Amino acid sequence: MKTKSKNRYNKDSPRIAIIGSGVCGLGIGWRLSQLGYRVDVFESEKIGKGATWAAAGMLAAGVECEPGEEKLLELTTKSQRMWPNFLKDIEKSTNINPHYRDEGTLVIAFNNDELSKLRFNYKFQSRLGIELEWLDKEEVRTLEPHLNSKTLDAVFSKNDHQVDNRFLLLALADAFKNSGGRIHEKHKVKSIKIEKERVKGIVIDSEFHKADIVLLAAGAHSSSIDGLPDSIIPPVRPVKGQMLALQMDINRPLIKHVIWTPNSYLVPRNDGRLIIGATIEESGFNSDITAGALYSLLESAWRTLPTIEELPVVETWCGFRPTSRDDAPILGPTEIEGLVLATGHHRNGILLAPLTADTISEYISTGNIPPEIEDYNIDRFLN
Ligand code: GLY
Repeated sequence: MKTKSKNRYNKDSPRIAIIGSGVCGLGIGWRLSQLGYRVDVFESEKIGKGATWAAAGMLAAGVECEPGEEKLLELTTKSQRMWPNFLKDIEKSTNINPHYRDEGTLVIAFNNDELSKLRFNYKFQSRLGIELEWLDKEEVRTLEPHLNSKTLDAVFSKNDHQVDNRFLLLALADAFKNSGGRIHEKHKVKSIKIEKERVKGIVIDSEFHKADIVLLAAGAHSSSIDGLPDSIIPPVRPVKGQMLALQMDINRPLIKHVIWTPNSYLVPRNDGRLIIGATIEESGFNSDITAGALYSLLESAWRTLPTIEELPVVETWCGFRPTSRDDAPILGPTEIEGLVLATGHHRNGILLAPLTADTISEYISTGNIPPEIEDYNIDRFLN
């Protein structure tokens, strides 16, 4: 059974409270305030210290698609195609540049085992219609001369781009505020108040904030807000990713493309930072940066680009991917009138930002569930 919208909201009256100031909360909030709604975003800490800040910003619908994710690919590809217009709209709403880069992504291999895996993924992804190009090692070296000379063939994905997620976050926050939205930092939402199957607002400390619509977009923390019936507590858990950044010479960056190696990815930024990620760990909200993780990320990056050896490490950090039980996002209404979910984006939060913002704001403003997200309702976990 699908949850159908119960009402068409009156544009002039509803008060919308959004829990979470990541790319989902701010993206949806921005779209809704552009439509003229009164929107308040509540954030337990400072804005953007969650998964959006920690991410690598890869918009990789193609090379990140794994067996079992064929259906999700429709969603991620659709959102990937929305990025250019999303950026144009951001540009009209703020002066903050999110540093989108469209050089594409290379997936590389160093030995025959890795080459077999690369070939398998190339065939699997190509069969799904992902546009990929097989490059021989000379072509790879021409594209990226600093790669280890042992690099073999590679796959080039011309549509998998990147954005600087931290600038994106600042841009969305500014765009949201410019369109009339309000952000409340250091406001930890304790519970969502529900009466007679209708949302009434949220409770922060002991203070009640009335709202007609509550959007739960709290990333990996989405399952820890009190007040929800068990059936609609989003089945979302934190999946930890440790990362680090090296500082390249800004005038002579070592790579131009995003590069996926068998054990890491490398993302070059406009300011010369080289982002290296990421572990995938099931350890709850443990935020330790471990020697083992740094060792393996650096070993993999060094194997790829031997000249990183001399570069300074400028940052280490970790984030918590909000991962649902089936690794797909949870989007849309719930059985509680006025309570809407946008969470569980796992590895695809930045990539899915335009689609999440547009579909959820469309649902809230019209009461109609856009077809793209019909299958991503929380109801799918009922059985
Ligand atoms: N999408 C990259 C990551 O989750 O590490």
